[in-house]
Amino acid sequence: MFKIGVLVSGGGTNLQAIIDSINNGIIKDAKIETVVSNKEDAFALQRAKNNNIETKVLKIKDFENKQLYENALIEHLKSKELDLIILAGFMVILSENFVNNFENKIINIHPSLIPAFSGAGYYGIKVHESVLARGCKITGATVHFVTEEADCGPIIIQKEVFVNDNDTAETLQKRVMEEAEWIILPQAINLILNKQIKIVDNIVRRI
Ligand code: GAR
Repeated sequence: MFKIGVLVSGGGTNLQAIIDSINNGIIKDAKIETVVSNKEDAFALQRAKNNNIETKVLKIKDFENKQLYENALIEHLKSKELDLIILAGFMVILSENFVNNFENKIINIHPSLIPAFSGAGYYGIKVHESVLARGCKITGATVHFVTEEADCGPIIIQKEVFVNDNDTAETLQKRVMEEAEWIILPQAINLILNKQIKIVDNIVRRI
């Protein structure tokens, strides 16, 4: 059984896409062992509970500093002996030390075509606001491995979404989720689970 941990901060629609893909057999022989949130009111936690998945809340402000917070997170995730950690709308930037503890075992979903609209300050709805402000005609989503530099790790899958003239940040966000994120995240999990990719010189190649 392929063991997955999912880190969340918000609504959890990407978590739901993973749960649904496991339940309907698109992802086979996998189990979500834990869903961890840095926010106790994240609706993602409810989605996990609805599916009898263990949840844990670890809030940064309950720790003296970020390092101690990360240590607790590392300890929890290690105790689950995970094959893959998925950042699914997890709005905490993780340190080099954290990433080094799980080399090539952490992936992230980002709501743009990286390297556009990525890195510090680009998260959630802000990404879509920036895409519209720049007048982009195409945007999309990316699943990538997580390295110590935010949104810079090797790209696993990208999918484009066309921007409409009458889009608001909210309508664009919804379409990027529906047409890209919820599709490519399960696909990326399957590529890793089925050992169909490898990283060569920071680039993901099919095996
Ligand atoms: C998603 O659009 C995800 O791509 C984005 O946050 C949203 C979470 O939604 N992540 C980032 O911006 C990371 N930089 P969800 O909680 O419904 O999955």
